[in-house]
Amino acid sequence: MNKKNKALSRNHIHTIVILLISAVLCIALLSGCSNMSANKDSKIIGISLPTKSLERWNRDGIYLKEQFESQGYNVELRYSNDDVYQQNNDIECLIADGVDVLIVVPIDGDALSQTLKRAGEDGIEIISYDRLIRNTDAIDYYVSFDNNGEGRLQGQYIIDSLNLDKAQGTYNIEFVLGDPADNNATYYFNGAMEVLKPYLDSGKLNIPSGKESFEEAATPGWSTDDAYENMQNTLASYYSDGSRLDAVLASNDAVALGASKAIQSDYKGSNFPIITGQDADIITIHNIVDNTQAMTVFKNVNEEAAVAVEVAGALLEGRKPSDELIASLPKGTVFDTESYNNNARVVSSYLLPPAVITRANLDTLVATGHYKWDGEHKYLTSTK
Ligand code: BGC
Repeated sequence: MNKKNKALSRNHIHTIVILLISAVLCIALLSGCSNMSANKDSKIIGISLPTKSLERWNRDGIYLKEQFESQGYNVELRYSNDDVYQQNNDIECLIADGVDVLIVVPIDGDALSQTLKRAGEDGIEIISYDRLIRNTDAIDYYVSFDNNGEGRLQGQYIIDSLNLDKAQGTYNIEFVLGDPADNNATYYFNGAMEVLKPYLDSGKLNIPSGKESFEEAATPGWSTDDAYENMQNTLASYYSDGSRLDAVLASNDAVALGASKAIQSDYKGSNFPIITGQDADIITIHNIVDNTQAMTVFKNVNEEAAVAVEVAGALLEGRKPSDELIASLPKGTVFDTESYNNNARVVSSYLLPPAVITRANLDTLVATGHYKWDGEHKYLTSTK
């Protein structure tokens, strides 16, 4: 073969390889991006979760998949890497795969309206899971926890721990709140403020940084790193003279972790402030045992998954779930038709009760079967 012919055949090989790759990609796209092993007779549940980077959404993924599959459904589960565009694409894929029900935790509550409109038009039942999806009337139900109540538990914990009703003097507090794109974040804050506000008004509680509104104290993306940096800045600006910080209202464990790290490295006072949290993450349990976080609010997401399974089942049978479903739901779940207006309408909601966890009642977590003591009976680990 001469040089020219050799070059030609090399070019041919390149072209053939490129064509083959394109063909494979096309087949993948046309087949509706499915990664599901389907039992053809079963209904399909499409689940869209925000990210794998937070312990709680991994738990949700495991429990939802496990419980729906145990009821004979096919499940397609997608995580969207905390990326709004990816979540829209992921939901498009679920629609293309012909799901019958969509269970969606929005990354940005305002960013899914168009995609969900299409899903609704396709007759797909849509459950807004844990976080409310806003500005759309396509969603059928909301399944979550009593989010206001969750914030009240955090606020009340601070009031009780500082003994604010009896103690003399003024106590310093700072807020480390959640992601403005997450509808829950304002509910947590408003709940906490319901109980803390009287003490702020009377001067019993004081916020040296002045960051008292949700906007001023929010943490986009619930980022631990941002919470760390913000708390470092607050400490440098308002506490560097040794002023005492008594409490930090942190809305979840991720931001509590950042605040706690900053206090461990940069706080000059001799006390360790009370820090609240939420989710009962394993790393948080370590901090609670080590006294670098005081409490967390536990939300039993296995039970939250069970509610979603019941609601989805009823919808697929053509029923309109309401109060009557409560009897088959975990204890304490309420049916609420008033509290969650998503800007398009009030969304009927099933809400589970949250619970306070401190060093004193870690056995409550063990009793759920999802946590166990480590070999030294000191910290907890996950059973999954
Ligand atoms: C969830 C919390 C979680 C937070 C960050 C909220 O919507 O309810 O449990 O900590 O998102 O992912």
